[in-house]
Amino acid sequence: MSSEPDRFVLQYYDVKLFFGRKILREIKPFIQEYKRFGILTGRSSAKISGAYDDVINLLREFDAEYIVYDKISPNPWVSEAEKAGETLWREGVEAVIAIGGGSVIDVAKVASVIASGGGGFKDVFRGRRPRNMMPLIAINLTHGTGTEIDRYAVLTTDDTREKHGLDIRYPTISVDDPVYTISLPKDHTIYTSLDAFYHAYEAATSNYRNIFVETLSREAIFIIRENLPVLLKDLSDIERRAMLLYASMIAGIAIDQSSTHLNHAIEHVLSGLEPRLPHGLGLALTGPRVVYYTHKVRPIESARILRTLDPNIKPLEEDAEKAMRIVKEFQESLGVTQRLEDYGFSENDFKKIYSYLTERLRYLYEDSTPFQISEDIIRDIISSAL
Ligand SMILES: [Fe+2]
Repeated sequence: MSSEPDRFVLQYYDVKLFFGRKILREIKPFIQEYKRFGILTGRSSAKISGAYDDVINLLREFDAEYIVYDKISPNPWVSEAEKAGETLWREGVEAVIAIGGGSVIDVAKVASVIASGGGGFKDVFRGRRPRNMMPLIAINLTHGTGTEIDRYAVLTTDDTREKHGLDIRYPTISVDDPVYTISLPKDHTIYTSLDAFYHAYEAATSNYRNIFVETLSREAIFIIRENLPVLLKDLSDIERRAMLLYASMIAGIAIDQSSTHLNHAIEHVLSGLEPRLPHGLGLALTGPRVVYYTHKVRPIESARILRTLDPNIKPLEEDAEKAMRIVKEFQESLGVTQRLEDYGFSENDFKKIYSYLTERLRYLYEDSTPFQISEDIIRDIISSAL
């Protein structure tokens, strides 16, 4: 599984995705159509990855004008997207180029909608979409979120710290070049890959699952299992990075076709309350226990997915405990041993977590989760991660 996928171009809904090494130049015909760009980045990763310089060089070839907005933080706030959107509008840009991981691309999705149609996040959240959407080019720097191929964006409200997931828009063009993921440090290499892992598992077991989703999910988890442990021994292994990038992209299609469910909803509450908690790590902390409850009600689908980690898992309710153990042991083999306590959470936070989950973010899991949640179940899941 170590041989790197050949370059390819995929048209999926509104997005044309370019996959492969040094593939940025192939988006030239698209770049040529515009004269003025807004580049959105985080504080450093765009430059460290080399993607920023490549984009600037490409724009210079056509004497294109550009402005740079480089203030986007991890677990971004609503105010950042509103500010970025206002800047794009004020500067009169014709197209947005997002260079970053999920945070930057998600902010760019919302900012491009605000810049095209006015209003603020509240309007966007209520479903307002302009008829002519500003084109968005996503240069993806991580192998986890899948946001370069899906229609979602995740942002946290500044005042109430509700981390919302919006069904907003696809990028217009996306670039998945594994070279740009080489500079991801070890911990984020693990977390972002586990994000893709849970996209795959949740999509294949949600109430919106189907056989196509399951095919993508099984393949994604197989690739992660085969390549992530090897990559951790040599973070510059570009072939492994390419495979993981491919896995996260197809897991992105899996959630786009289906949905995440309870594990993602709980993680939204946790990292909304504590933005230092990386998304992929938050998922890994509560994930095994969510797998336990999921396997109980979806033993066939769950076992088909988890067989890629352990061929002995059975499609039976009785194997729920084993399903949980398999996932936990896989995570531990990657070095994931943190607890929620390390991020300041304790038993005392349960009431708050539960009320955020059930009162404010219910829409994130209510229709998609394959089992009925109760206070006891959520308490058990949170306790398992403390
Ligand atoms: Fe995710």
